[in-house]
Amino acid sequence: MITDRIKWNARHENRIGFHPTDSYLKKQLTKLKADRVLDLACGRGRNAFFLAEQGYKVTGADISDIGLHMLRSEAKQRDLDIKTVNIDLDHPEILLDTAPYDSIICINFKPGNNLLGLVSALLEPEGIFLWCSFNEKQAEVSGFPINMALHPEEYINYFPALQLLEYVRFTDDSGFRDGYLFKKTIA
Ligand SMILES: C[S@@+](CC[C@H](N)C(=O)[O-])C[C@H]1O[C@@H](n2cnc3c(N)ncnc32)[C@H](O)[C@@H]1O
Repeated sequence: MITDRIKWNARHENRIGFHPTDSYLKKQLTKLKADRVLDLACGRGRNAFFLAEQGYKVTGADISDIGLHMLRSEAKQRDLDIKTVNIDLDHPEILLDTAPYDSIICINFKPGNNLLGLVSALLEPEGIFLWCSFNEKQAEVSGFPINMALHPEEYINYFPALQLLEYVRFTDDSGFRDGYLFKKTIA
């Protein structure tokens, strides 16, 4: 949505520096399948930098052209080769032109059904989908919007072609979160 682009451009533009890599991604890094990774809603790229530094070939997708510009500038500084796709993930079909991926990550973003319905098609067989975002407890204690929150066990049976490897509810420095790890089992 155009309003998402305006809102997120303003947020990214006003931020200086980069947050640390996401804790769940760091913890589960060894579960990712090498080597092409798609970072959905990558923002300014903190997780994309981490993955590229570990040797993954990373593509970051986000609606914010300003966020992606900051990602590319920082990647250049760090001598990292990260591809970017400026896209409204409510209309994700063009991602199929960039597929397949060995792994997909999605951190602190709740995709709509269009994008979730495409995840399996974007993955190689045995590909991994790692997803971690804020849950309803975070909405209770902060201004985090409830419509963007994950709910208990909400997606454990959602994907016909993906096997659930792990579902966890936890708290870290950023707040109350749910983490999912899936593996594509059906070609
Ligand atoms: C909370 S940030 C998370 C960024 C990154 N994943 C991270 O962990 O640092 C949410 C991101 O979702 C992006 N976003 C919001 N709505 C979007 C949409 N409809 N399509 C694509 N990206 C979107 C924003 O631009 C923002 O970068």
